[in-house]
Amino acid sequence: MNTTNPQDRLIFALDVPDKKEAEHYVKMLEGVVGCFKIGLELFIREGPDVVKMVQDHSSANIFLDLKLHDIPTTVRGALRSAEKLGVRYITIHSTEGETILETADEVKGSGLEVLAVTVLTSTSVSSLASLGIRDDINAAVLVLDRAVRAQNSGCAGVICSGEEAKLVRQKCGEGFKIVVPGIRPRWADVTGDDQNRIATPSQAIEDGADLIVVGRPIRDANDPREAAQKIVDEISL
Ligand code: C5P
Repeated sequence: MNTTNPQDRLIFALDVPDKKEAEHYVKMLEGVVGCFKIGLELFIREGPDVVKMVQDHSSANIFLDLKLHDIPTTVRGALRSAEKLGVRYITIHSTEGETILETADEVKGSGLEVLAVTVLTSTSVSSLASLGIRDDINAAVLVLDRAVRAQNSGCAGVICSGEEAKLVRQKCGEGFKIVVPGIRPRWADVTGDDQNRIATPSQAIEDGADLIVVGRPIRDANDPREAAQKIVDEISL
């Protein structure tokens, strides 16, 4: 395990439309979460300015969740650009196999860690079947295959659901980062939830996650700071 302080293991997804709202959450959650995740909605709207804003108001790590998916040359260029922003994590897709996963070597040793997205946590078993994936290949089989390829290609870790965390830990061993979104504390009530393969914070950590990603259960809580603290307390037990 690479992180010891429980709060360092909590990543808050800054899934908000603009920098002003993001700043509100960064100031409110500074000191309770270990990392802020900037996703597509915010980055497309605000660009690198939003990264700077987080750096100006917080000492937490930054995770640029852009889920890069393009030809290797383009992904390599994007990784070099991300490295210059001073962020800690970035995501690339793993569906194309080694050719894309091996782009991680472009930023090796720079402090930027490349995480491979395996199968989105919003993907259900039935949606895999409707994509023409063979019946005997379930989400766990796909995730494991992609995790092994990501590890062999030099990625720092993977994004997978809590349902596969244990298997990935067994297969890939310690030192390979497992980051789990689709986290739903028992007390959380997310309206119109699109996540399918979910886990509670403590279950995900128990099963081998190094880091958990939480968005709406914190963002939409009456008191987001208290909600984040409750999650930290749960994973501290
Ligand atoms: O609101 P919620 O807790 O569902 O937020 C989860 C976050 O994790 C979102 O920002 C989403 O983009 C991200 N994510 C995910 N599944 C992945 C990778 C990232 O849900 N496989």
